Amino acid sequence: MGLARRVERPSKYGLAAFWPAGESSVKKLYIKTYGCQMNVYDSARMADVLAPAGYALAAEPEGADLVVLNTCHIREKAAEKVYSELGRLKAQKQAAAADGRTMLIAVGGCVAQAEGAEMRRRAPFVDVVFGPQNYHDLGDMVTRAERQGPVLETEFPAQVKFDHLPRPRARGESTAFVSVQEGCDKFCTFCVVPYTRGAEYSRPVADIVAEVEVLAGDGVKEVTLLGQNVNAYHGAAPRGKAGKADEWGLGRLIRALAEVAGLARIRYTTSHPIDMDDDLIAAHGEVEALMPYLHLPVQSGSDAVLAGMNRRYRVEEYLAVVDRLRAARPDIALSSDFIVGFPGETEDDFAATLDLVRDVGYAQAYSFKYSARPGTPAADRSDQVAEDVKAERLARLQAALANLARSFNEDCVGRVMEVLFDRPGRYRGQVAGRSPYLQAVHVTPDPGGIEALQGRILPVRITEGHANSLAGRLTGAAVREARP
Ligand code: SAH
Ligand code: SF4
Ligand code: F3S
Repeated sequence: MGLARRVERPSKYGLAAFWPAGESSVKKLYIKTYGCQMNVYDSARMADVLAPAGYALAAEPEGADLVVLNTCHIREKAAEKVYSELGRLKAQKQAAAADGRTMLIAVGGCVAQAEGAEMRRRAPFVDVVFGPQNYHDLGDMVTRAERQGPVLETEFPAQVKFDHLPRPRARGESTAFVSVQEGCDKFCTFCVVPYTRGAEYSRPVADIVAEVEVLAGDGVKEVTLLGQNVNAYHGAAPRGKAGKADEWGLGRLIRALAEVAGLARIRYTTSHPIDMDDDLIAAHGEVEALMPYLHLPVQSGSDAVLAGMNRRYRVEEYLAVVDRLRAARPDIALSSDFIVGFPGETEDDFAATLDLVRDVGYAQAYSFKYSARPGTPAADRSDQVAEDVKAERLARLQAALANLARSFNEDCVGRVMEVLFDRPGRYRGQVAGRSPYLQAVHVTPDPGGIEALQGRILPVRITEGHANSLAGRLTGAAVREARP
């Protein structure tokens, strides 16, 4: 997501697994995360914020003292899911009250930001509604809700939340997200993000380095730097004074992070094609820890549609960026996001998208039907594309993308790839990890179970390439190394 794996279903990155559910004296916190990786990061930080108030994460909403929904507004479906979940939670809240317990409900994230006041009307049983820039204050909001009733906090604060967040807590994970940039000033005509996340902001270099050092010290091997426009990053240099001359771009930040002891892999997402500057592209060729895989959303292969979207590049310019990246790092693989059925999109425009997909040869991609979002300029256009046309185009695009993804995976067969093992596989005795290209890799049987491999990067000979994953076996050297 785009922020690449944004999803319209709850995030797969459950947090509860990493903290024990609370003792009876501890308050139980359940967080359900929708949307992009930044919401996953934010949810983890919300748990950090609430920990001093005695909240510990639980795996289920049942019996929770506080339920937080961290929501996504990017498409209509994503936003509507929140209200159906709230319907279920209302019943649980009533059942808890009948039992003499209190269950507080808090809604954060982008739906809360976009619809705060309306949400108070539609779901008056919600205790706290807070925006993505307000969650540093969540402990206080919860206390106020307990004492005085419903709280709504969606004003963009004058001070940035990052200055008020506690030190991140160890999660026993080998991969982590780190927000480095937030908000967006691009105003693509279809997109709610500039309205829900606010203006572009870059965290200072020193803060990010300190956070990554903490994570690496806790055993994290791979960080993904996050931002709605991550490559527009321009954070204050270490010990720098305010002003352009003392700002670093993303390339320079990545070079600094590559020096952090214990950190082996760096990724970043999501990038805007016009912000791929020379230094960042050069970093792809020079920084070994920077993984050869980049999410570079193009949205459409038609110049007319791109202009209507206010994307600020033409297809030719996008392709030139791809060429420069490949010149710097020949084995780089790309992923993208696509919107089909943007207002005014003709069959010829759509055919141009299919051409571009073929020309670039994406390893992976996400594609969506255009969803008109209230308050965005494209939603008011009179030339909306019919639903059935959108659905038919999406099916054709997804078939093309799936073919490419499968052949990319099949082409990996026979290669030896470095895999960061981070979780048990689906089957007994199986262990799973990620390749440099973020492909899921399953290895079975393993020499010592997940315990022996967890958090390690080992060479794997790939034996099978599937639609969405790879299978392989540890090379002889890796088996010797991994033996407990
Ligand atoms: N900052 C990223 C994208 C963030 S939103 C970028 O500039 O590319 C993630 C993805 O959701 C977008 O890339 C786009 O493909 C999709 N998206 C955003 N708004 C949408 C809408 N109104 N309808 C359908 N898809 C949308
Ligand atoms: Fe949305 Fe465009 Fe900003 Fe991406 S660059 S977050 S698509 S407005
Ligand atoms: Fe992310 Fe969805 Fe907000 S994609 S930025 S949570 S609208």
